[in-house]
Amino acid sequence: MLKSILVSLAVCLSPVFAACDYETLQAATRNYVTSQGTGAFASVAASATYTENFKTTPIQSSILSKALKIDHNRSLHDTTQCATYTEIVVTDPSHPYVIGVQMQYNADATQVTKIEAIVTDQGDWLFNATGTYNYASKENWSTIPVESRNTRAVIQAAGDAYLDLFNNKNVVASIPGNGSPNDSCNVGVPSGVALVNRRYVIDETVGAVDVFLNFGGTTGIPDSHEFRVENGKLRFVHTMSVMGN
Ligand SMILES: *[C@@H]1O[C@H](CO)[C@@H](O)[C@H](O)[C@H]1NC(C)=O
Ligand SMILES: *[C@@H]1O[C@H](CO)[C@@H](O)[C@H](O)[C@H]1NC(C)=O
Ligand SMILES: *[C@@H]1O[C@H](CO)[C@@H](O)[C@H](O)[C@H]1NC(C)=O
Ligand SMILES: *[C@@H]1O[C@H](CO)[C@@H](O)[C@H](O)[C@H]1NC(C)=O
Repeated sequence: MLKSILVSLAVCLSPVFAACDYETLQAATRNYVTSQGTGAFASVAASATYTENFKTTPIQSSILSKALKIDHNRSLHDTTQCATYTEIVVTDPSHPYVIGVQMQYNADATQVTKIEAIVTDQGDWLFNATGTYNYASKENWSTIPVESRNTRAVIQAAGDAYLDLFNNKNVVASIPGNGSPNDSCNVGVPSGVALVNRRYVIDETVGAVDVFLNFGGTTGIPDSHEFRVENGKLRFVHTMSVMGN
């Protein structure tokens, strides 16, 4: 009797201990960013599945193996999916980069199992690492007080509403903006462009979602859209699109 109670207690408790906790994921992204500074991460993550700009690439010759002088980094930590997203800006004039990396971990976040990197540089759409650095370092993406946090569903829906806009301008009616007549995101957005194969990393603590997708149908260009959502409304949008793929 006692034994079976203990067993069922252990079963109930085990998810708590096995869970992919926030601090472990934070340690993992810190480790990535530090290792990216020397190029050592390619060895750290050697056993992970790796794609660069959505193409399978040998990790040892990837961006992860390059020593980058990082000016800005910011990460999302998704404890539900045991996944992370990291944005990196390098303004180094010898080769500026804006990089987004989604990572998937095993159940207790001790090992990275899958990595997708989007690497943008000169020639990519709207690429300007100094400009990106300037606004990214001024924006407030800090932790949202528990009582004002949105659910994962609300955060994802706000991002999806924006992404759906590219395919159908009528969706603008449901875009949760800040209420000003000028905040609609449809200015200059082309119509009839499908944004597909969406992979989400969601962090409720900072009200953010990053989405990797193909921009323009299943063979469309590799793209990352990241959103900060406050009170159900879009606050910031960061995009990376790979043109020279
Ligand atoms: C990454 O960003 C954090 C927060 O801004 C900063 O404290 C840290 O030094 C950065 N890491 C690197 C390697 O640049
Ligand atoms: C890039 O952004 C910086 C800072 O906002 C700006 O001074 C510069 O003119 C921009 N460069 C281009 C090519 O747009
Ligand atoms: C940054 O955002 C957090 C969360 O919304 C908020 O509590 C804080 O007041 C903001 N800081 C500034 C300087 O606006
Ligand atoms: C909206 O844009 C128009 C035209 O650029 C401008 O005159 C108006 O002041 C703006 N309104 C707000 C609330 O920002």
